[in-house]
Amino acid sequence: MVKIAPSILSADFCNLEADIRRVSAADWLHVDVMDGMFVPNITIGVPVVASIRKHTEMFLDVHLMVDKPARYIDRFCKAGADLLSVHLEADHPARIADALRAMGANGVKRAVALRPITSARAILPYIEELDMVLVMTVEPGFGGQKFMESQLETIREVRALIDRYNPSCELEVDGGVGPANAKTVAEAGATVLVAGSAVYGAADPAAAIAALRNAG
Ligand code: DX5
Ligand code: ZN
Repeated sequence: MVKIAPSILSADFCNLEADIRRVSAADWLHVDVMDGMFVPNITIGVPVVASIRKHTEMFLDVHLMVDKPARYIDRFCKAGADLLSVHLEADHPARIADALRAMGANGVKRAVALRPITSARAILPYIEELDMVLVMTVEPGFGGQKFMESQLETIREVRALIDRYNPSCELEVDGGVGPANAKTVAEAGATVLVAGSAVYGAADPAAAIAALRNAG
């Protein structure tokens, strides 16, 4: 059964504790960190992750949409992240490898993320050290965008590489996922579905989480 990771990008940041409690039936909590450089939007940073950690036991899946993320790995680990994703497009390969090593040294799960333009094969240099690959199905930066059907092929290609080189690695899909496409995304090979607007836009977030899980 797929895991569901609601994205707090669609939460009310003035009522974050209550909005995290509303999704406590989920498997993970997805935290979108944006720096205004790697993506045009600015969201939250290290202090907010540290505050979230004090208020929930949920698994914190922190998606770093920041330039040169190796600079921040230790700080996000100490803030209480359980898993960090760094974008392959955000730095040179040697620095991405440094970022993954820093996660491992801190005992935090290691993931790389792919923008829609990036091919599945870009994960090959890292695949054996990864706990997760994140495939974006929208251009990163904003919640509430339309799912890019063309990314289903990338999901299938990443699934094939994971099956071949590191079968226990999770495959997370992020962007425009909802009840209409959860089954297709899971069938393409996803094991974790991020959902922002589909969960927080629902009248009953717990029911929306259960429906996504059953669909997948
Ligand atoms: C987009 C973020 C996503 C976003 C998903 O850059 O990485 O996690 O919050 O939101 P929805 O599910 O609304 O597309
Ligand atoms: Zn995300």
